[in-house]
Amino acid sequence: MFHETVVRFGALTAMGPTSLAVRAGEFLTVVGPSGCGKSTLLNLIAGTLQASSGQVLYDGRTVSGPNPHVGYITQKNYCLPWRTVAANIRLPLEFRRVQRAEAERRVAAAIRQVGLSGFEHAYPRQLSGGMLQRVMIARTLAYGPATYLMDEPFGSLDAQLRLHMHVELMRLWRETGSTFVFVTHDLHEAIALGDRVVVMSGRPGRPKFILGIDLPRPRDVVALQGDPRFGAYFRQLWDAIDVH
Ligand SMILES: Nc1ncnc2c1ncn2[C@@H]1O[C@H](COP(=O)(O)OP(=O)(O)O)[C@@H](O)[C@H]1O
Ligand SMILES: [Mg+2]
Repeated sequence: MFHETVVRFGALTAMGPTSLAVRAGEFLTVVGPSGCGKSTLLNLIAGTLQASSGQVLYDGRTVSGPNPHVGYITQKNYCLPWRTVAANIRLPLEFRRVQRAEAERRVAAAIRQVGLSGFEHAYPRQLSGGMLQRVMIARTLAYGPATYLMDEPFGSLDAQLRLHMHVELMRLWRETGSTFVFVTHDLHEAIALGDRVVVMSGRPGRPKFILGIDLPRPRDVVALQGDPRFGAYFRQLWDAIDVH
């Protein structure tokens, strides 16, 4: 939860004052013009960045350092090239000193869940962009965070693969019951995935409009695009967003 949160980098005010409550178990999507503080918002939740003023609370507690309850997935992939898929996914479990047998079990389950079975021993250079992104998701899945933070994770994928990843992500969200905060610049993606869409204003970014997406679940991300309600939501977001 954010309460009157402000982030300044020297003379530049990147964010705020922002007040926003993320609901447990929801899929919250965040859109806004580039540089409006979307990544900053995620960094605050992850605890890798401290607010200049105001508060950031996670489960009622002030976030004052790296937040162990979140998994962070960014657009860039941080796979270690000299480690196999399985060894990359195991990495955070090694940091957390999870016992080897338990780690192996979780890694195998995560690999199955993201559909990478058969690629356990492959190296990152042998994988496509979509597969690498799945490795990043599996890596997070394996330690089962209560909250997933995703920063434009599918930005580099082609449209077809992106739709496919949406289907997988929706399944994962249902299965894990975790909270998702998902940043994107794609309004279609924001509507198709979200329970609510937060529109950030231009810098200094703050939530200027929150749109509840009242479309039934499970959603068919493809059929959805032809739904008249989808078009109406798109229009509302388009009108709310500052275009620079
Ligand atoms: N570590 C930093 N030091 C200085 N300025 C930063 C830093 N991180 C972000 N900014 C600035 O803060 C603003 C918001 O950044 P960011 O949250 O990355 O925007 P977005 O993700 O919406 O594109 C930008 O103007 C960016 O240049
Ligand atoms: Mg960003």
